[in-house]
Amino acid sequence: MQVFAATILFPAIDILISLTGNKRKHIYMATKTAPIDLADSFEKIPVKIYPDLKEGSRFVAQQIADLIRAKQQKKEKCVLGLATGSTPKTLYAELVRMHREEKLSFKNVVTFNLDEYYPIDNKALQSYDRFMRVNLFDHVDINPKNIHIPNGETRKEAIKAHCSDYEKKIKEAGGIDLQILGIGNNGHIGFNEPGSGIYSKTRLITLDTSTRIANSYEFANISEVPRLAITMGIGTILQSRKIILMAWGSGKAPVIKMAAEDDDNEHVPASLLQNHDDVTFVVDEAAASELTRNKSPWLTGDCEWTPKMIKKAVVNMALKLKKPVLSLTNADYNEYGLSDLLVEKGDAYEINLQVYYLLRDSITGWPGGENLIPICLTTRNVQIPTRRKSSSSLPTRMMTSSAWAAPFSVCRTRDMRFMLATRPAGILPLPMNL
Ligand code: GLP
Repeated sequence: MQVFAATILFPAIDILISLTGNKRKHIYMATKTAPIDLADSFEKIPVKIYPDLKEGSRFVAQQIADLIRAKQQKKEKCVLGLATGSTPKTLYAELVRMHREEKLSFKNVVTFNLDEYYPIDNKALQSYDRFMRVNLFDHVDINPKNIHIPNGETRKEAIKAHCSDYEKKIKEAGGIDLQILGIGNNGHIGFNEPGSGIYSKTRLITLDTSTRIANSYEFANISEVPRLAITMGIGTILQSRKIILMAWGSGKAPVIKMAAEDDDNEHVPASLLQNHDDVTFVVDEAAASELTRNKSPWLTGDCEWTPKMIKKAVVNMALKLKKPVLSLTNADYNEYGLSDLLVEKGDAYEINLQVYYLLRDSITGWPGGENLIPICLTTRNVQIPTRRKSSSSLPTRMMTSSAWAAPFSVCRTRDMRFMLATRPAGILPLPMNL
């Protein structure tokens, strides 16, 4: 039976996975497997979604506190890998609160920070050394000897030795029990910029311009942002026993989707975390908004076809195919992954109509549509397929104009991020950024 499983079943599962695409996992540290609901999402990493960063941070703080206390009971050290940036600030504030109000002690805690700018004075306002003291270490009872942060004051000739010493110290401490991560907009973790290899270790790295721009708010101007940094490697991070990556806000939504759903690749370093077997993304609703299960839930499993969901799905499809809603065909529905909806409602024509009326009824006219950005439309007539004669005011043709908005009444729906050209009679959703 075991032989059968190994020779027939596993390859068969692999083939199935590769045929259905998208779900393959490589396990880097095969100790235990974190469950992922493959039926309801495209995520290759478990993603926990909280209403806001406070609740998400509280969850992570509780995980850390539980680990520290469990280790205390066993009289063991608890080795934490820590991150900087705006993302973990609320987490550190919560840990400080737990220390003050719930007597959470950090006496058995050993920390290794992910990274540090290079070169930088440890006392500089922007150094991660200072960040950690101000946000956490100065407020808890951690033994200063247990704190490790890459040293931005190291002489250039001594950097290599400093980095291998950092790796050695992590090993001597018994390895990292729990690594906390943020994520850069370009997918970096620590300062592992795109291109960082899965086996990379602690080293000096050149910062991407995009990272320097993103972090320039901490400095007087961009030219003051260091061009280099010392960072733990991806390989170092993957050696941790458990990893939690946090992300808040819609700005992180695209990269969270890439890291959790796309195939792992070095261009999005956080996606390499898919190769670890105990990693969790903890995000707020905004950062989860691009995940397929939220953005296009009809693609990830059973979906309740409420009018709102139908409108969202059909409008997304119309925008993607650059077609007016009323021109969508059965073939479009099938190709766009909406065959379920087609089966349920019977016919593209009916669904199109339903969405057309939903859109029409949500239009706010001038002056309600004030503040509209004028949109320039190309001259073109859009033929709407007529399936049957209707007594309703269903348009049979839609025109768009090359003129700026003036000749048409251009309106905005109350609840959607696109605009509609409503005259003479058709509806074509137009993305706001047109
Ligand atoms: C910096 C840090 C990263 C952090 C990232 C995100 O580049 N080196 O460890 O994850 O910024 O920053 P923020 O949390 O401010 O979005």
